[in-house]
Amino acid sequence: MGSRKHERPLSPNIQIYRPQLTSVLSIANRITGVVLTGCGFILVIWLVAAASGPDAYSQFQRIVGSWPGLLLLLAATFAFFLHLCGGIRHLIWDSVRAFELKQIYASGWTVVAASLVLTLLSWVVGMIIAGQN
Ligand code: HEM
Repeated sequence: MGSRKHERPLSPNIQIYRPQLTSVLSIANRITGVVLTGCGFILVIWLVAAASGPDAYSQFQRIVGSWPGLLLLLAATFAFFLHLCGGIRHLIWDSVRAFELKQIYASGWTVVAASLVLTLLSWVVGMIIAGQN
């Protein structure tokens, strides 16, 4: 065991840093990536239910159409758009652009605003289409 004198400083961890837009969006991108992977499984279940016949399909629709189901669907829609917009932000960074701190904050808030607008827009369009049937 080394003496105290030779101990290296530990880098501050997540519990020490104050949450900032940059870190929150970074973590959110990972969480939404995992959430979308889970949504992929649910999408497969939906397709299997549709292929299994009207009973299985209507049972699935009943679960998704319930309040908790709709709330989860809303959250999933936001997760999708947050990850999509965050992904586009990453692609811009990959082209070695917008790395100034001011630009990073501007793109971060743009991602948040665009995700909210796109979520709202897709639900409004979805409800209009659903209302027509
Ligand atoms: C529904 C489809 C999608 C799924 C299931 C998915 C899933 C994931 C997962 C699991 C990760 C890894 C997260 C991590 O460990 O940090 C990830 C990262 C990433 N995704 Fe997606 N993703 C999807 C759509 C997209 C789209 C449409 C884009 C682009 C516009 C995108 C861009 C990215 C990028 C750039 C990263 C890496 C971010 C980083 O370097 O930290 N993804 N995605």
